[in-house]
Amino acid sequence: MSEKNLRIVLASRPTGWVEPSNFRLEEAEVPRPGEGEVLVRVKWLSLDPYMRGRMNEGRSYAARVELGEVMVGGTLGEVIASRHPGFAPGDRVVGQQGWQRFGIAPAKALMKVPDPRLPETAWLGAAGMPGVTAWMGYREIGGLVAGQTVVVSSASGAVGSVAGQLAKIAGCRAVGIAGGATKCDYVVKELGFDACVDYKSGPMHESLKAACPAGIDVYFDNVAGEILDAVLRRVNPNARIALCGLISGYNGDDIPLRNVFSLLVNRVRLQGFIVSDRMDLWPEAMGGLAAHVVAGRIRYRETVTEGLETAPASLIALLKGDNFGKRLVRIL
Ligand SMILES: NC(=O)c1ccc[n+]([C@@H]2O[C@H](COP(=O)([O-])OP(=O)(O)OC[C@H]3O[C@@H](n4cnc5c(N)ncnc54)[C@H](OP(=O)(O)O)[C@@H]3O)[C@@H](O)[C@H]2O)c1
Repeated sequence: MSEKNLRIVLASRPTGWVEPSNFRLEEAEVPRPGEGEVLVRVKWLSLDPYMRGRMNEGRSYAARVELGEVMVGGTLGEVIASRHPGFAPGDRVVGQQGWQRFGIAPAKALMKVPDPRLPETAWLGAAGMPGVTAWMGYREIGGLVAGQTVVVSSASGAVGSVAGQLAKIAGCRAVGIAGGATKCDYVVKELGFDACVDYKSGPMHESLKAACPAGIDVYFDNVAGEILDAVLRRVNPNARIALCGLISGYNGDDIPLRNVFSLLVNRVRLQGFIVSDRMDLWPEAMGGLAAHVVAGRIRYRETVTEGLETAPASLIALLKGDNFGKRLVRIL
């Protein structure tokens, strides 16, 4: 192939905030698929907060990216060449090709786009990993009971927006927490949450109390820190907290927790989860989410930048909160 591969590798590990210098753009040969493998041209790269953790040296729930390795990332692309009978050139596939224009994958690591009725980027967002994360948090920990109050932080984001809409579909009162009036307006007016608290407009306690007059039964937490503490002051007995993310501490800050008393006296169940632990549930989750998207019951918003070169700045913006909805890079 005369075309070259373009890829972004991890050049150095961040200390604190991610910097553009942590990445390096490289040109390389387009790889050739081996027996049982497929060559994919990436069209869309998903940017997600977990990428910050993969840039660290330390141990986590998934392997770190080594220095000089291509950055990890969920992708949607087109099969260019296949040495597996299950895939043919032209197939649209969801995979993990990472931050590059062309990637090789074993056939078992690819999924054909399951339902052509959806816009293809939905498979990286509301009907893909972020949507499945929202679904899984309730399935494994939160449990949705009609009439109960569900609070979701980072409510305008890829995971939070789906979490709130799933709560509404189940007949719950859905209350979002988001940064700024524009995001809160979107969460209520476009996504249909019952209320949204702007955590940037001052201490949250009174506004959370007003938005949750019957207390809080389920908290879908994407953030932790001060927001989790504020929620713990309003939880009902036997509340469930699905701990999905800790974005307030991803750049290395401590994550304090003060209202520990509330966990005990309210018999709160707080449990973390990792969406990839239950891959067996993904087909069920994706099927349900796709049906909601097609029917217009789940809506979403995307922030798209153009070209692989924009990925570092775009990830940095995502981690700094300068983000609205699902963040994607269109690979040209
Ligand atoms: N457990 C799992 O398996 C799993 C899977 C996927 C994602 N996650 C986690 O789910 C969370 C949401 O992911 P996402 O892809 O949907 O990202 P996202 O919510 O679309 O984007 C990140 C958002 O986090 C908010 N934020 C950033 N810094 C914050 C801070 N210090 N305090 C409060 N909010 C802050 C910002 O929204 P505001 O402007 O509203 O603050 C920002 O837009 C992340 O923590 C991620 O790691 C977990």
